[in-house]
Amino acid sequence: MACADISQSTVAERNVGMIDFDRIYDRHQFGSVKWANQWDEFSPRIEGEDLLSLWTADMDFRAPETVIARLREAADHGIYGYTRRDPRHYEIVQSWFARRHDWSPALESLLPAPAIMPSVAAMLRTFTKPGDGVIVQSPIYSPYFEVIQGNGRKLLVNRLRLQNNRYELDLENFEKLAAGARAFLFCNPHNPAGKAWTRQELTALNDVCERYGILVISDDIHCDIRLSDRPHIVFSSLSEDAAEKSFICTAPTKTFNLAGVPSATVSVANKERREALLATMQASFMVNANFFGRLALEVAYSTGAPWLDQLTRYIGGNVDLVLKFAEDRLPGITPMRPDASFLVWLDARGLDRKVGGVQRFFVDRAGVNLYDGRVYGPGGEGYIRLNVGCPRPLLRRGLERMSMALESL
Ligand SMILES: Cc1ncc(COP(=O)(O)O)c(C=O)c1O
Repeated sequence: MACADISQSTVAERNVGMIDFDRIYDRHQFGSVKWANQWDEFSPRIEGEDLLSLWTADMDFRAPETVIARLREAADHGIYGYTRRDPRHYEIVQSWFARRHDWSPALESLLPAPAIMPSVAAMLRTFTKPGDGVIVQSPIYSPYFEVIQGNGRKLLVNRLRLQNNRYELDLENFEKLAAGARAFLFCNPHNPAGKAWTRQELTALNDVCERYGILVISDDIHCDIRLSDRPHIVFSSLSEDAAEKSFICTAPTKTFNLAGVPSATVSVANKERREALLATMQASFMVNANFFGRLALEVAYSTGAPWLDQLTRYIGGNVDLVLKFAEDRLPGITPMRPDASFLVWLDARGLDRKVGGVQRFFVDRAGVNLYDGRVYGPGGEGYIRLNVGCPRPLLRRGLERMSMALESL
């Protein structure tokens, strides 16, 4: 029984001890996108001897031991047939969000999802029509552009305002766009900047969306790794009307480094919309659970908290290292301190102009692959995104190489 297994795991997790996040593992053998430096067959492969990969958003850490042990048991069992999420599955999801984020979604509001982005696509197809406007706030996680435009909806970009190296909402422009929009695809916390939105900001967004009858698709995938004292506020927890208009998308995949064994959950408070979304997902055969993904979610949420707390401290240390190192030894680069996630957004606009493309410069001259800010749309030009979800010795090596490349300029 899942319950018994999980409570045994909890005992093991309590005795977790200090986790060695410094240890470096070779990830090439299992087809890692990050270490192949290649996203898919359509994007150009970045070649290079000994290239350090600090770009796409997964981490170079092993998942919690309890998750590994249970997946190993399941792998050893050897029969990987159809799998179902039972009611306990949703209780585990609810309990995680109640404990970690003071948000207790009604059990009946929770829908199963294979991952975040396919669910977002299903929402757009269900609740908007071809040509309808969908707002995003750029710079932003680039698959948002693809999911909107790829499904024939109109992309409406509200650029975030840069103030004192922090992003702020442009509410005035948001309201202008809202007049021609049907939905808002919201990243909470924000990727690439790692900003946790405040209650005041969320309320202001909700007010505009309420006035214009806009649905809010909130992607909370980065909510669990909290680096500042800003809490994660779930959009639907703001008020009843916020809950009525919103879809809250959650997953343990960033939190516990499980992107290759995905499973996600969508909370939809409004009953009619929930049923409509489920119908779309069923018609697309999206609701069958993945054998390993379902299990990984349950074990991670049930037993992974002590691991996550250690991880969060480690990531916080990596962020501190980047900020200090940049100040001392990376002239022309200004990091933005994230409230959440394992991503650091680096302002390198002057340098970008000087070297004619800062991302390529660091690949060619430092052997470090970072994410090009241009990918994140308007406002991302001249920025680079650094993934600090990696062993500190590796991060330090990357920073040293970047510093040497800058010295040689
Ligand atoms: C903001 C955001 N949303 C969604 C995803 C991807 O989620 P999934 O793999 O569950 O579709 C990512 C991955 O980097 C992300 O950063």
